[in-house]
Amino acid sequence: MTRSEGREEPDVLTSIDGSVGIVTINRRHALNAMNYAAIEKIADALEAFDQDPQVRAIVLTGGKEVFAAGADIREFESGTIQEMVLERKMLRWDRIRRVAKPILAAVSGYALGGGCELALACDIVVASDTAVFAQPEVNLGVIPGAGGTQRLIRAVGKAVAMDMILSARRLSAQEALQRGLVSRVYPVDRFFEETVGLAKEIAAKPHLAVLMAKDCVTRAPDMNLDSGLDYERKLFYLLFGTEDQKEGMKAFRERRPPEFKGR
Ligand code: CAA
Repeated sequence: MTRSEGREEPDVLTSIDGSVGIVTINRRHALNAMNYAAIEKIADALEAFDQDPQVRAIVLTGGKEVFAAGADIREFESGTIQEMVLERKMLRWDRIRRVAKPILAAVSGYALGGGCELALACDIVVASDTAVFAQPEVNLGVIPGAGGTQRLIRAVGKAVAMDMILSARRLSAQEALQRGLVSRVYPVDRFFEETVGLAKEIAAKPHLAVLMAKDCVTRAPDMNLDSGLDYERKLFYLLFGTEDQKEGMKAFRERRPPEFKGR
């Protein structure tokens, strides 16, 4: 029997605050370690908010105590190469990167292994001053399997990424801020509210421009400069077909606040 069996509470909670969808990992008994079912539920929740017209930005959190201590090691322990390969066990993580709306990670406490990778899969990472980031998989005889070797190097560069992945070195919130893994750090008693506030700010902006900006920036590291500039220019041109572009520029000229419609 797994520890989540027989529990009344769901592993993942969702709520909506205005135009912001909130996804909360709720496996405190295992420091929010994510088993396969929990990853599926996180992806389900993100995809549901991606489809919901009321939602324009998403906050993913684990609460104040812990973001996530990784994938569930107890579930992994008996894994075999056949099962991992043939049942494509890690493919479910890929669903997160198909979400078009901005996802903000609100990270407090441990973000280890898959927890750090989950934060890295988000578009903006906001941390509390208690956050701790690490990729300790090598201590278990494996390597990061949910994007860590690829996304961490893009976030912090080779020197720090290699150090973290080979030695399991931990980064504090302040170090993560200095290294570019997170973009804002707040005291633990208000990091979540600050993240939701930031998500609301983004949600109030012209929605199509936000989606296209996310798309361009997400693709940038994988494109050569020529292709990236061409792609950016095409999406820039495309935005001239939106009502919000007309409204944004007219409001600027008329010196009044814009009224964006998301069209
Ligand atoms: N999987 C399953 N259970 C976990 C877990 C994990 N990743 N992390 C913590 N837990 C469980 C513990 O087993 C313990 O459960 P019990 O009370 O039932 O024994 C409970 O959470 C509390 O943990 P600790 O007693 O260990 O708490 P601590 O405060 O002493 O230590 C910790 C906290 C440093 C986070 C420590 O729990 C730890 O090192 N956890 C593992 C971190 C890790 O290696 N993560 C990588 C996982 S592999 C991965 O993520 C692969 C990938 O790329 C996707």
